[in-house]
Amino acid sequence: MKIAIMGFGTVGSGAYEAAKNAGGIEVVRILARHGRKGYEYLNDIITPDIDDIAGDPEIDLVIESIGGIEPAREYVLKCLRAGKHVVTPNKNLISACYKELMDEAAANGVKLRFTSSVGGGIPWLFNLMRTKRCDEIEEIRGIVNGTCNYILDAMYDKGADFGEMLTIAQALGYAEADPSSDIEGTDTLRKTVISTNIAFDAVVSEADVPCYGIDTIQACDVAYLRKKGLVCKLIMKAKKNDDSVEVYVEPTAFPADSFEANVKINNNLITLTAKHLGTQSYFGQGAGMMPTGESVIQDVLDIRDGKEQNIGNAGAGGLKADNSKAVHRYYIRHDRMCEHIEPLIESYEEKDGIYYCISKPVTVEQMHKMGHHRKEKGKAMFFAALSEE
Ligand code: HSE
Repeated sequence: MKIAIMGFGTVGSGAYEAAKNAGGIEVVRILARHGRKGYEYLNDIITPDIDDIAGDPEIDLVIESIGGIEPAREYVLKCLRAGKHVVTPNKNLISACYKELMDEAAANGVKLRFTSSVGGGIPWLFNLMRTKRCDEIEEIRGIVNGTCNYILDAMYDKGADFGEMLTIAQALGYAEADPSSDIEGTDTLRKTVISTNIAFDAVVSEADVPCYGIDTIQACDVAYLRKKGLVCKLIMKAKKNDDSVEVYVEPTAFPADSFEANVKINNNLITLTAKHLGTQSYFGQGAGMMPTGESVIQDVLDIRDGKEQNIGNAGAGGLKADNSKAVHRYYIRHDRMCEHIEPLIESYEEKDGIYYCISKPVTVEQMHKMGHHRKEKGKAMFFAALSEE
């Protein structure tokens, strides 16, 4: 099969390497503004012009690894309309444009696959779709950002500095081009939207999902939670209620002996609960050149070999997001006991002007609203839900 790769960064080059290992796949074009160090021998097949790919009848399939929405969306639509299958790890694109792109693929009789958009090298979406063939998904949850897990794990294990670990995660190819989407939780948010819509045939969009990241965590939070036998992780969660989905992204403190607490370095751990199957978890490298590149090529091979996938029908279930019933107790650290926070607090310890609190049961919406309000005002605050497991 002759393919092209659009975007030759970490994942694009990982897919190129994985294609060599797979055999039977020939990369004949690469869309990039310039060559990549170490790949000078590919300069002859590099083009900055999308029409060299969309207009080439020899190319059957295109990998889109440009990232972001535009021009990735425009180029993918062009390739689909030209009758080419598309495989993409681009969660921004799939989260925002899933229906539009799936409809376009169907209208042109080609496939669009995006297994690697959630969980990097873990075949999470593949197995989520597979489970749905004969079961009903009740809940999905887990750690889906390798960069955040890498930072949190190092802070917990080695007392490492947040900024230093973020720089290392960038150098290792885990972080996004703009790493604020990792640490502010928006990367996890996009993966949550994709997973939720597939799990429940729902119509959730990014704006519907409360999201709080780890960008305000400090060493004192990690140390305080550690003293209490807890480990902080950034979590996505979506749960089906009668006619809606509870869905959010937030830091969560887990008991030190739980599975989640023991997810190390850039690994992800994603769990589904299905009505008949019960609970099943998927664990592995959630970011990085080869894990993600290999997952991209698995989709390519499945398309080449005519393997169908039950992608479902996003929106058919009609379920919308509703977090009004989502309530937890939270760990909250802040620098001032004010009238907004005090009524929520069950107990607290004060040390050097910092308040380490445990809240009463609080709705996710209320907690996130307060967190974002404080962040906008530049006030020191961090919170983490206390895991009920
Ligand atoms: N920046 C992402 C992460 C890459 O750290 O998980 C994989 O989607």
